[in-house]
Amino acid sequence: MSDHKILLKLDRIEKRFPGVLALKSISLDVRAGEVQVLLGENGAGKSTLMKILAGEYQATGGTITIGDRTVSTLTPELAAELGIGLVHQELSLVPALSVTENIFLGRMPRGPLGKIDWGKAHAEARRALAALGVTIDPATEVRRLEVAEQQLVEITRVLERGPRILLLDEPTSALSDGERSRLFDVIRRLKQRGHGMIYISHHLSEIPMIADRVTVLRDGIVIDTLPADKADEETVIGMMVGHSLADQFPKVKVERGKPTLSVDRLASGKTLKDISFTLHRGEILGVYGLMGAGQAEIAAALFGLQDLKSGTIEVDGRPVHFRYSSDAIAAGLGLISRDRRQSLVPMQPVGPNLSLSWLSGRSLLSRLDLKRERTESERYVRELRVRPASLAHRLMFFSGGNQQKVILARWMSSGAKILIFDEPTRGIDVGAKAEVFALMSRLVADGASILMISSELNELIGMADRVLVMRHGRLSAELPREQLSQENLLRHAS
Ligand SMILES: Nc1ncnc2c1ncn2[C@@H]1O[C@H](COP(=O)(O)OP(=O)(O)OP(=O)(O)O)[C@@H](O)[C@H]1O
Ligand SMILES: [Mg+2]
Repeated sequence: MSDHKILLKLDRIEKRFPGVLALKSISLDVRAGEVQVLLGENGAGKSTLMKILAGEYQATGGTITIGDRTVSTLTPELAAELGIGLVHQELSLVPALSVTENIFLGRMPRGPLGKIDWGKAHAEARRALAALGVTIDPATEVRRLEVAEQQLVEITRVLERGPRILLLDEPTSALSDGERSRLFDVIRRLKQRGHGMIYISHHLSEIPMIADRVTVLRDGIVIDTLPADKADEETVIGMMVGHSLADQFPKVKVERGKPTLSVDRLASGKTLKDISFTLHRGEILGVYGLMGAGQAEIAAALFGLQDLKSGTIEVDGRPVHFRYSSDAIAAGLGLISRDRRQSLVPMQPVGPNLSLSWLSGRSLLSRLDLKRERTESERYVRELRVRPASLAHRLMFFSGGNQQKVILARWMSSGAKILIFDEPTRGIDVGAKAEVFALMSRLVADGASILMISSELNELIGMADRVLVMRHGRLSAELPREQLSQENLLRHAS
């Protein structure tokens, strides 16, 4: 591969934000026909670097060479013209516009009188989506789509522009295995045609599937670039975190207590039918299913975000009926939703983003709460290694994974006794994941119960006491911890 020509070269790129030196000196190159996986802890500078390449941020030092053109900064127009396409980590779609409009924004096919040719536009959007195996109606408004579908629209939008250098910032964080393998097929085709790619992920297991080379960033510098066959998990974890990880799944044995949440023959939303289970005090109850099997709807139905068609829910033996999520919070429930943008207050720093969940039944300006807000914020910033470790920075300036840590901290600090964690580790780096699991263990040891909805088999196997498996909106199996294995979970899910 070394004879492949260099498409892109970065030389000592620096990016200074007010008060933060996000990138110190980044030098790397991308060759024709390669996928270069870019790794690094949350806040290492990966997304910042991608935005510089897409012309959305201006570097404060260094040069970028694309083909025979060397520049110190790019505009979005120049980046596009030079063949760079970025699939954003935080999707860049317009929620109130249709899928078609999002894919062809500014370039809608027009008829002879300059009028938009909707028939043609939708047909082309449908064809473009089909390349990724997606069959959603292109006339749908993007805000009505699930996160995974939005992710696929974002990828399609960028691919439609035919970029020579494709940058993918955590494209698979919301995708199912099937969707991911179709994306990988597309990536392999682009490789064969001589395109170059930078691929960012926190799923280290994807390295052998897709990488030619691996580059690790830490604190705004490049630690090293390795050929993929030298980049085993232990090596790259060491490079990312600076030391090896003692235990990825710090599970603590806790005596199972009395029932806290009982669900009986629940039906709700598009898929859920005949769901019955009981969550006990001190327990981590896993929920696993393939994408769309109904896991996300369980969270919504339990939290009063989606009407029940039939069935009952009991909390501590008493029947409850949650019309709004505030009812669920008042009854002692907490929800970490899979789409973090729904639950952040980006204009506020860590403190208010934590205490948001404590407010029911309290005076807003109580001094005690401000004091608690401060101690809890300091504690979680330290324990989850939130970066920047600052109580003053607004969340909009945090990296994706650090925002996710703050949402986790909100519910871990809320005092809620029944916690519904829907894909809690999405976007979080390996080191911080271990801290999250340690905190989960501590919460259940202190008497909480956790419903852990996850598509990460190894995390369920590492942390759950039992796992409910879902298929087509129903429960297909309940597996005790001793029977948890990848094969077993997959067999009951498909
Ligand atoms: N617009 C901004 N203003 C100020 N600081 C910023 C801004 N964008 C990013 N940062 C800071 O730059 C650093 C790098 O953030 P970046 O988003 O590039 O991290 P990342 O490697 O993509 O992390 P993650 O894995 O969590 O997505 C962080 O400390 C972040 O807080
Ligand atoms: Mg990022």
